[in-house]
Formats: sequence, structure tokens, C-alpha cells
Amino acid sequence: MTPSRDKPARELLDFYIEAGADALVGEEPVDRFAAVEVPPRPARAPQPPPTVPDMPQRAAPPAPDAAAMEAREAARSAATLEELRAILEKFDGCALKATATQLVFADGTPGARVMLVGEAPGRDEDIEGLPFVGRSGKLLDRMLAAIGLDRTSVYIANIVPWRPPGNRTPTPQESAICLPFITRQIELADPDILVCLGGPSAQTLLGIKDGITKTRGRWFTFNTGKREIRAMPTFHPAFLLRSPLQKRFAWRDFLAIKKALGKPRAPDAAQHEA
Ligand code: URA
Repeated sequence: MTPSRDKPARELLDFYIEAGADALVGEEPVDRFAAVEVPPRPARAPQPPPTVPDMPQRAAPPAPDAAAMEAREAARSAATLEELRAILEKFDGCALKATATQLVFADGTPGARVMLVGEAPGRDEDIEGLPFVGRSGKLLDRMLAAIGLDRTSVYIANIVPWRPPGNRTPTPQESAICLPFITRQIELADPDILVCLGGPSAQTLLGIKDGITKTRGRWFTFNTGKREIRAMPTFHPAFLLRSPLQKRFAWRDFLAIKKALGKPRAPDAAQHEA
């Protein structure tokens, strides 16, 4: 193909990828709009409506409540971050695992003073198995660098550790099922400061209803189960890529985080270390 004939095909592929159609499901294309010949159904004598016991029995999918309970027990049983990762690798209670390429557990240094939590991995993260490695991750790296931090001096994870198909927003049920794992991950990573990247992360972790425009830059308290730590919601880097004018607010938030890092650990934290 000449480059000029190649371009529309490339653009069409880019469009499919942007729309989330980025996986091959068959070797042959199928025209699902083509008229299908439906063979006439054989005439049947009128039947009485089936009673409930006669209904076909199908294996019920695991109820979300049961999956959330299983997640709580599994997360609680992890004594270390390595154990938590191994438990998540085996956990089948979240349907997102079936469509994701792999688990996206964390990046950075466990035990770092700052932990950042996003919403869910995207396409690049799904491929690499690491959070925030795509375009928004590159911006996050620059924001961290602006306050003297990098991937080795923070710990990064997501509420949901599997990529939702087509980068859609995780459903409330999916987030609820994954919540015990991320809360245990925070407890085991034991940061001094929790940064919630974007509204969904802040709402899920801090139990707040207000949107990110209202909550960003404010300090909240997050109880890790071991101690109370400071938590700040800020804009998600993906949002900042779409709305660059908002970067000045994120800059303020990151300066506040830098200032907070200059302060010694809270007294209850010192007690926790003893
Ligand atoms: N957005 C997120 O919330 N998390 C990632 O890991 C990447 C993009």
C-alpha cells in the first residue's frame, strides 16, 4: 500500500482503538447487519406457561455481595504486599479479570511516604502490568518531579487492578468488590500521605460524595486500620491532559503535599513505628 492509501486504514484503526475495540475476537470479519434467514418454527400445540420449577437451571454468576465478602476475607488474610498480590492473582470474584490482559498491582516503593491511587488501569497499563505508564502517567511523573519526587520515592496503585474493557469507568459493583484489596494495600504500604487521583478514587477511598472540583486541595483523614493518615484528592492527570488550564490547581495541591512532607510524622505514626 502507498502511504496515502495506508492513511485511512491507519485512521480507522486508531478510531477503533480509541473506541476501545482493541482486541481480536476472530480471524474472519462477521457482518452482523446482514439479513439472517430464520427457518420457520415448527407449529406447536399451545403450551401452558412453565412453572418456576420447570424453568431451565443455569449456574448463577457469583452475587456481587458474596464476591465483596470473599474479597474482604481474602484481603484481610494477606500479611504482606507480596501475599496480597498473590491473592489477587488467584481471585476470580471480579469479572474484569476475565477481559484484562493481566493484573496491574502497583509501581514504586512500598513504604514510601506518599501513595497515589488512581481509578483503574488503561490500555498501556494493561499491556505493561504497571499503573500510570501511558500519557497520563507521563504527566504524573512530571508533576512528581516538580516537587522532587519520582517513582522510587512514591508508591502507586489503583482502586481496580484490572483494566475495564474499552477503558470504560468501573461499575460501582466492580469498585466495591476491589475496595477491600486497595484498602489492605494502603494499610500494608503504610504511607504518611495518600493522594487520591480524581473524583472516583477520592469518593471510593474517602467515602465522600462531593465531586473533585470541590474536594481537591483539601486535607481529609484516611484510617488505614493501623493509624490515621492525611489524604488529599487532586485532579486526575488524564483530566489535566484534557483541561490543561486546571494544571495550576493541581500544582497548588502538589505544593501542599510537598509542604506536608516537610512535617514530621504524626505522633500516632511515631507510636506505630516504635
Ligand atoms: N488512569 C488511572 O486511573 N490509572 C492508571 O493506572 C492509568 C490511568
